[in-house]
Order: sequence, then C-alpha cells, then structure tokens
Amino acid sequence: MTDSKAAPSFEGLKVAALESRRTAEIATLIERFGGIPRAAPSMREAPLEDDSAIFRFAERLFAGAIDVVIFMTGVGVTMMIETLERRYSRGQLVQALSAATVAARGSKTVRALASLGVTVKAKALEPNTWREVVSALDGVYDGRLSGLTIAVQEYGEPNEQLVEELARRGAKEIVRVPVYRWTAPEDVGPLAAVAREIVSGQIPVALFTNAVQVKHLFEFADAKKEELRAALNRCVICSVGPSCSEAIVQHGLAVDFESASHKMGSFIHEAAGRALELLRVKRQASASRVTATASTATASAVEPSRPEYLDSRFMKACRREPVDATPVWLMRQAGRYQRQYRELRARVPFLELCKNPDLAAEVTVSAALQIGADAAIIFADLLLIAEPMGFRLDYDRPGGPWVSPRIESAADVGKLLRIEQGADALDYLFDAVRHARWALPRALPLIGFAGAPFTLASYLIEGGPSKSFRRTKALMLSDPGAWRAFMDYLARALASVANGQIKAGAQAVQVFDSWVGCLAPDDYCQSVLPHMKTLFGSLPPDAPAIHFGVGTGALLEKMREAGGSTIGLDFRVQLDEAWQRLGPRVSVQGNLEPAVLFAGIDTIRQRAVRIIDQAGGRAGHIFNLGHGVLPETPEGNVADLIKIVHDESARRITNG
Ligand code: CP3
Repeated sequence: MTDSKAAPSFEGLKVAALESRRTAEIATLIERFGGIPRAAPSMREAPLEDDSAIFRFAERLFAGAIDVVIFMTGVGVTMMIETLERRYSRGQLVQALSAATVAARGSKTVRALASLGVTVKAKALEPNTWREVVSALDGVYDGRLSGLTIAVQEYGEPNEQLVEELARRGAKEIVRVPVYRWTAPEDVGPLAAVAREIVSGQIPVALFTNAVQVKHLFEFADAKKEELRAALNRCVICSVGPSCSEAIVQHGLAVDFESASHKMGSFIHEAAGRALELLRVKRQASASRVTATASTATASAVEPSRPEYLDSRFMKACRREPVDATPVWLMRQAGRYQRQYRELRARVPFLELCKNPDLAAEVTVSAALQIGADAAIIFADLLLIAEPMGFRLDYDRPGGPWVSPRIESAADVGKLLRIEQGADALDYLFDAVRHARWALPRALPLIGFAGAPFTLASYLIEGGPSKSFRRTKALMLSDPGAWRAFMDYLARALASVANGQIKAGAQAVQVFDSWVGCLAPDDYCQSVLPHMKTLFGSLPPDAPAIHFGVGTGALLEKMREAGGSTIGLDFRVQLDEAWQRLGPRVSVQGNLEPAVLFAGIDTIRQRAVRIIDQAGGRAGHIFNLGHGVLPETPEGNVADLIKIVHDESARRITNG
C-alpha cells in the first residue's frame, strides 16, 4: 500500500541494502526513489568442498530411483549441472532429469531449467517460500506423496520445514542434495562499513531481500551483535517477503514492512512510499515509552501539500500572527535535568551522542514530546563547528567545555583562516536534523541553532568558559584587523552551520550570542554588529531567525539592528519594556528566570502569568526561559510550566 497523494520518496534518507548479485541495481533504485543508497554485497555462493552427495544423487537418478527433484534456486541448477558435467554429458543429465518429476521454486529457477531443456512439472512461484513448493507438488500428486523418493537441492542452510512437510505428506525418502554454501563476499569491507553506519545511527532504513543477508550482516560485520541488533531495531526494517521476514525475526529483529510483491523494483517503490511514515511512528513510539504527555504524537499517513508546522503556534508567533495560545519551548529542554537523558549519558559520551544522528534525533524529539513543547530544538552543541576548524573539544573535564589548543595571537588567527572547512564537516548534525524532522509530528516545528561569532570566538580564545573574557577582549581591542578577519571567518562558517540545518529540514534557527552581554555597547557596534549582519544576511529570509544573548539589556536595539526576526530576551530585562524598545516589527522570545522552576507551582504560575501579561496579548510572543533549563531543575515543573503557559494564555486570548 503506497501513499496515493505523494510520490513515493525516501526524501534523502540513507538506505541500507545488502543485495549481492544486484548491488548496483538496488542502489540505482534507491536513488531513483530519493534515497541515498548504502549498498554492500553480503554473500557469495561457494561450491561445497565435499560434492560426494551430488554424485550419489546422480547415481540414483540415473538408476531411476528418484521420483521427484526439487530445485530451490537458479544458481543451484547451474552449479549442480556444472559439477555433474565433470562426469556426465549435459544430454545425459537432461534426459535423466526429464525422466523424474521436476519441481522448481521461483521463476529464476524455472528459467534456468528451461534453458537447459528440462520441463518443469511443478512450478512454485511467489512468494517463493517452501509452502508454495509443497502446494505445487500437491497440484501434481493430489496431496499424496506417499511412496515417493524426493530429492531436494539445498543451498546454504537446509530448509527443515520443507523436509518435514514432505515427510508429513508421506514421502518415502527425502534425499538432501547440498549444492553450494553461502560464504562471505570477496570483500567484506563495504558490508562492515554499512554495519558501522547502522551502529552509529546514520542509516534509518534497512532493506533485506533474502534470509542470508541478515545472518551475514551479524556474522561478517565485525560489530558487537547486541549493538548492531539495538541499532537495527531503531531502523525501519523492510523485508522483500515471508522467508526473508522469518530470518529477520529469528535474529531478534522486528519487521516493520513486508513487501506484497516480491519483485525488487516494486519492493523499493513500496518501501519508499512507507519508510517515512514508519520511521515517524517508530520514533514516536520509542519517545512515548517515556512520555505520558505526548498527546501530539499522532502520525499522519499522508503528507499534506503545506506542511502543518508552518501553521503551528510557534511559526505563527515568529511571524507575529495571532495564535490560540502562547507557544512555548525552553532552551536546553533536552538535558541533564531529565532522568532519561542522564541514563543515556551514563552510556554515551556527549560528543558521541551529538555525532549519532539517530540518538541525537531521539533526544530532540522525546524531550519536546515529553514536556509538551511547541517546538523541538535540535540536540547538538554550539562548539561542534570548532572541531573541523582543528580544535579539540572536551566535555568531560569539570568546569568546561574545554577547547584546545587556544587561539593565543593574531598569528594563530592567521593559521585558522587557512583552514577550509569541507561542506560535509557537520554532516552528522544535518543528518540529525533530517532524522528529527522525519520523526517529529508534522505539526511540531524544529529549531536549528548556531553560535554567534563573538560567543564562539570567546571559547576559542579563552579555551573554555570565562568570567572576564579578558583574552578575547584583549585581542579584539589590540588587533582590530585580525579580529575582523577572525569574526568574518566565523560568521561565514556559522552561517553555513545554520543554513545546513535549514536545508536539512529545520523551520527556524536560533543564533546564540550567549556571552556578548559582556561588551560595552560601543564595542558591540564596532567589533560584533557588522559580523552579525553578515551572518543574518546569509540566512534565507523566510526562515524565522531568533537572536539571543544573555545580559544584553544594554544592547537590545543594537542586536535588533544586527538582525533576526525574533529577539530572545534574558531574564534581567522586563519583557514589556524590552519589546517597547525593540519596536513592533519584531517578535520576542522569553524570559522566565530559570531558577523559578525550583520554586513551588504557585510561584511558577504567578511568574509565568506576569510574563504573559507583559506580552499583553500582542501577536509575536514566544514564551521561553531567560536562559537554559538548569541541570537540577525538577522534571515535573518543566512540563507544568508549559501547561500553565498554554492554559493561562489561551484563557486570556478567549476572553479578549
Ligand atoms: O537547548 C537544547 O535543548 C539543545 C541543546 C543545546 C546544547 N547546547 C546541549 C548541551 C544547545 C542549544 C546548546 C547551546 C550551547 N552550547 C550554548 C548556548 C546556550 C547557552 O547556554 O547560552 C553554549 C554556550 C554552549 C556551550 C556549552 N556546551 C556549554 C557551556 C556546556 C556546558 C554547560 C552544561 O550544561 O554542562 C555545554 C555542554 C552541553 N551542551 C550539554 C548539553 C545538554 C551538557 C552535556 C552533558 O550532558 O554533560
């Protein structure tokens, strides 16, 4: 069943396929349906070292002691004949086979026999399981196999169910003829690479076109089996048909989708039509396992032509349109105040988490759903871009994050400017945005983010957090030329970080100039503002851009001039006064003091209402904290705050 309204497409998803003989073909098909193929051969037929069973079978066949020969695969036909031609002529073989009843499973097997001139009396066609073989024989023998000696061409693993069923129907003897075995592909490198990408969460869809692929993935991939299994179970697993599905299930995996057609082309077509919806349902199911309040987690099967998130409260407020209730999300809504996050972090280091698009997307989505926010913010970090610039990041040492080596001089800046960043430096971040967008309910917008040049520069120069920013200011004041070049370089890099996320599916971006509040207004105007203009000027005009900083009470008008369609307010200003200063042509975001979340529910309500009243029902207010959620914040209070904002603002809007 494919979605009739939208052309089937994987929409840029990476799709794993382990097809061996038709690797190139399946890759082309995945591409044709909008996916990025990660195709690797997983198996190869190898002749048996001991082929005595084939010759024993042939002797009995020539003696007329075999009534039925079942060929299970086309390759089996070819390999058996090739082996026996060492002793018999092809003519002799065809004649002997034709004297028996020949059954064939699958159209390729029928074709292989036909090309030899052997007539197939029992054709077992789709879906090509052992059951079709039995019913094809039933058609010839009327369901009674008693007294027959039946030879079964085996390949790889013997099919015990077939053998048992033949015996149950009264066959006198079943002669097993193993013809070849499955072995590792010539080069297991590509298979191992695909497995690594699956384990690190880069690939959200896996296609299986036969049973051996699953087995070999576990056998030859050089990945920890449990990790691989867990990662695969987070993917959408598509199976070409029942036999393949059985093997998938035997390996402890769940089949999300089984094709109705058993042909590769239709399989990929169907999978492309279903993958996104299945992924969304799967991610939301895993998010709502920990979520009592995930009322928004309903998946819509049909993609509407205008994405629902464009008409969400958050996007409307960004555009200063009227809403039914004030939208609310919280900076650092995913983080250490959450038990679930702490548990995950106990297993996965922070940087690894950021670089695993699958996990990062899950953290993003589950945080937003769990607290009932009106937007999700991608789980990542402002400093990630420093890595491809050649810096090392350390989030584990207390008091950080730490950046090394520090920029110590104008000469260091000069060296940095020569580092060209590849466009793919933060691919994992863009993938995480893509994964999160697919997994989110359609009505929930996704916010991307980037640091601002000054705040990022402060980490690169100070080597970590700072109170005085004296090194940063020293460079800024003593070498304006180097500073300008440095800031321009960062502005361009950060614009590409933001744009990459918008392209990957983020609806809006927030630019964090967290520490710019340490600057005097004149210095801001001279040394920061022009570069903020460069940054905001490089963003698409139709994506809302939120411009946020801490302690920026003295800079608000200048930040507005620098850019952004929404200004983020910290809690040290009063929202109504700040909005007055900014003028009516921007929306504002903020600004509850984060520490209020440690107080009782009455205080939280009172303080939230105070801010809602300051906004006074004007279109264009997005409720948020004045800075990020603090680590020890009681989890329940966060969800309570969001509910309070919705209820209290909706009541005021209804009452006019
Ligand atoms: O808001 C969200 O939920 C999205 C995730 C997000 C993180 N960092 C995750 C994170 C966002 C938007 C950021 C932005 C960020 N990172 C900023 C600007 C926001 C602000 O606070 O003004 C800054 C300055 C950074 C740099 C950074 N990264 C700091 C100062 C820290 C340490 C502070 C802390 O909370 O530990 C980080 C690490 C970090 N970034 C964590 C998270 C969840 C904690 C890492 C952990 O799990 O140990």
